[in-house]
Amino acid sequence: MSKISTIILAAGKGTRMPSSRPKALQTVLGEAMISHVYHAVKQLSANIWTVIGHGADEVSAHINKAFGEKAFEHCVLQDKQLGTGHAVQCALQKINEILNIKNLPQGTKILVVNADTPLINEDILREFIEKANNIPLAFMSLTLEDPAAYGRVVRMDFDANVNSMPLGSCNFYDANTGSVQGIIEAKDFKKKFPDCEIHEVNAGIYLFDSELLEKLLPQISTANESGEYYLTDIIALAKENSYKIEAISLGSSSLLLGVNNPLDLHLAEKFMQEEETKKHMKAGVIIHAPESVRISPLATIKPGVELFGPCEIYGQSYIDKDTIIESHCYINNTHISEACTIRSFCHFEDAIIANSALIGPYARLRPKTVLADNVRIGNFVEIKKSTVGKGSKINHLSYIGDSLVGSDVNIGAGCITCNYDGKNKHQTIIGDNAFLGSDSSFVAPVKIGKNALIGAGSVITHDVPDDSLAIARQKQSILKKVVIGSDSKK
Ligand code: UD1
Ligand code: CA
Repeated sequence: MSKISTIILAAGKGTRMPSSRPKALQTVLGEAMISHVYHAVKQLSANIWTVIGHGADEVSAHINKAFGEKAFEHCVLQDKQLGTGHAVQCALQKINEILNIKNLPQGTKILVVNADTPLINEDILREFIEKANNIPLAFMSLTLEDPAAYGRVVRMDFDANVNSMPLGSCNFYDANTGSVQGIIEAKDFKKKFPDCEIHEVNAGIYLFDSELLEKLLPQISTANESGEYYLTDIIALAKENSYKIEAISLGSSSLLLGVNNPLDLHLAEKFMQEEETKKHMKAGVIIHAPESVRISPLATIKPGVELFGPCEIYGQSYIDKDTIIESHCYINNTHISEACTIRSFCHFEDAIIANSALIGPYARLRPKTVLADNVRIGNFVEIKKSTVGKGSKINHLSYIGDSLVGSDVNIGAGCITCNYDGKNKHQTIIGDNAFLGSDSSFVAPVKIGKNALIGAGSVITHDVPDDSLAIARQKQSILKKVVIGSDSKK
């Protein structure tokens, strides 16, 4: 299959999703909808153009972070959201501008995908493209009991013309019969044919010959109920111009669900959540209460892992065999190696954990935390941008930030690295086998030598040499007890 140019439409306001976040960035299992679509088309596309508009800065920043600079440079601004047809027109203009050409090379295939179809995947797109490859205009359709706000796929006799059909008559054919005449958007359909219904609807995924697109897009008008340039009007135009058109239905309707409002978002997430947990259980991951376990499709979980719901595993997390994740954990972009036990209520982000670690309950690992084999991290411990060596223990109530902790170190309850001076962050280095007494603070930059012993309650402001004992606290005094208000004469 030859690679194609893909245009993702993500400029719309999402008026039915009342949220200040652009609709394309609403998440499904921790991943923005636009990212799901981008992942689905990535392997199939020679290049990907994303049309942005509403919340353009936020959406393009997301694309830059998630998919890199080239993806960012291929964002096309649709200044005013005048409709899906106009969005594609903006993309074609930008492609020609960047490639410095007047028209796309003959034979170019253009895949257009709505950004609000987060369940689509590479397999279904591949199947669609294979079926559609020799047709100048094809789109994916699905059949729904309630066609709701989807565009209706109009099928009639080959020679019929939907525009000359008497208003109100319902001479439509079912899916896979008759000949596709066009797509009528829901609002227009209800107005024109109030007593009719069509259950075959448009999924918002199209494959075009670029010549057809370049020729017919400029002919689209705004003469419809919404006053927008509908991309879907191109179907009837193509029919009038005697192009071959086809609506391709591939059975699995759920994957084509469009997300327009909070309920759609929930349904999409529920579907993907069930699919993901089922997939992992079939592959040998033990999942307790799977209905409450949310795993991103980007995550890798090896057979033999045991998960207890509820928990969330997002991003490119990786969990290796024989690891147990107890309930109520949030794990994002984190690598957890073999045979670790993660107790309940842990929160990890962008961390790396080597083999046989015992972590939690209630531990927080922030970005750039790296834990070596056999590390133990206990309750109410927060670690940020720090490396902890083999066999070290930080068991209770500590904050370790910007630190290098050696191996077999014992950090007592309530130890704090004071890494921030109000302007800059500084490093704390703790040598192998050091023992840090409880409730000590380490004012960075500071270095604790190997085998050093720190007395409990110390505030360490200077380096401590290897093999030495440091105590930095007020000496204890024993004074006579004075009872306030007592009369000494009595
Ligand atoms: C669209 C289709 C409808 C189809 C449905 C499938 C049109 C006119 N209608 O309807 O036939 O059944 O998708 O889910 O295409 N967008 C832009 N610029 C704009 C307007 C929209 O980029 O000016 C983007 C949106 O961000 C969205 C996509 O295009 O990702 C679809 O727009 P939306 O308003 O959701 O269209 P629907 O009404 O769902
Ligand atoms: Ca939509």
